[in-house]
Amino acid sequence: MKAFQTLFIPLNIGNLVLKNRITLAPMFLCYGNPDGTVSEKTIEFYARRAKAGVSLIVVEASAVDSKGMGLSRMIRADSDNYIKGLSKLAKAIKDAGGYAVLQLYHGGRYSQQPIAPSPVETYLSPEKKIIPQAMSIDEITELINKFGEAAERAIYAGFNGVELHGASGYLVAQFISPRTNKRTDKYGGSFENRIRFPLEVVASVREHMGKEYLLGYRFLPDEWLPDGFKLNEGKILARRLEKASVNYLSCNAGTYESWFLPDIMKRTSKHGYQVDITYEIKKEVKIPVFANGRINTPDLAEEIIRKGKADAVALARPLFADPEFIQKIFENRTDQIVECANDMQCGRLTMQGLDAVCSQWKKVNA
Ligand SMILES: Cc1cc2nc3c(=O)[nH]c(=O)nc-3n(C[C@H](O)[C@H](O)[C@H](O)COP(=O)(O)O)c2cc1C
Repeated sequence: MKAFQTLFIPLNIGNLVLKNRITLAPMFLCYGNPDGTVSEKTIEFYARRAKAGVSLIVVEASAVDSKGMGLSRMIRADSDNYIKGLSKLAKAIKDAGGYAVLQLYHGGRYSQQPIAPSPVETYLSPEKKIIPQAMSIDEITELINKFGEAAERAIYAGFNGVELHGASGYLVAQFISPRTNKRTDKYGGSFENRIRFPLEVVASVREHMGKEYLLGYRFLPDEWLPDGFKLNEGKILARRLEKASVNYLSCNAGTYESWFLPDIMKRTSKHGYQVDITYEIKKEVKIPVFANGRINTPDLAEEIIRKGKADAVALARPLFADPEFIQKIFENRTDQIVECANDMQCGRLTMQGLDAVCSQWKKVNA
């Protein structure tokens, strides 16, 4: 353990104190029940990572509106009917020693009923072209309120806070991007207008859940697209979110429209590929900033924190591949950590509506 001392320095975040710097990044698993309620399998997954010692568990993208769901079997938070299951999940995570945060999501142009700031065609692949319906001002106002209501439900269910999904090219990111937001009203055009929607969502969430709970933000620093949202604007947005009462930023660059470009795939295959861009954002704000992306080893995680590049690391697939990743650090068994193979089997399965399974699980007791 001596070698990893920095990872175990507690971190103040909002009103919470994390016991270490390893957090679980949100990961849609397709384990939910078809009606959007939390399943036993979902509970087991998250509780196991909390029990192993992960300080902050961010539960996967959860729908604030039935029309905004991207894939089937997402967890839902858009009606009080879901509170019972969410309560069981929050309790299991907290009983296992972690803090529980629910990620709030709307897919926008990637929803089953695609809506977006503007009717800009998606171009994931030629056979999958979709032209979303532009949102009216009334629809925008209604949705801002729905984010707030979902946050209130999460808190009522016992979560320590929520994380707004502002990255990956989903609805919130669609508003800030000049590629997908072509509006000429107060929600489009200038940078100030493009960031109005995320800031109003933050304000609504804060108002609904109160000051004392954790409000995180899954942050898009740069779309990695020639005509996309860029780091110079990302830096200003980071400061504005901090001012608006956001408690942490979890940086995740790129979107579905950049991640599959050959150059970006080369970049994202490298360990710690987002550390530098995360540091650029960290320099702008005082709130904690999390680094994401192929942080596969305790050595790399420790180095990131020790060098001050980020305040915490957010691991998705490394903790999916090896549920006891952090426990093995505690027990001086780091040589037994089973690494994520980066083969994206998990992602391919969930895209097909199938339960996420890791190709590495044959090597661990998962
Ligand atoms: C199967 C799968 C599901 C994901 N689901 C989410 C999600 O619900 N919300 C989110 O913000 N990011 C999601 N991500 C992105 C991860 O949180 C993470 O940023 C990405 O996988 C890179 O980090 P890693 O190398 O630690 O996995 C998902 C990634 C994968 C592979």
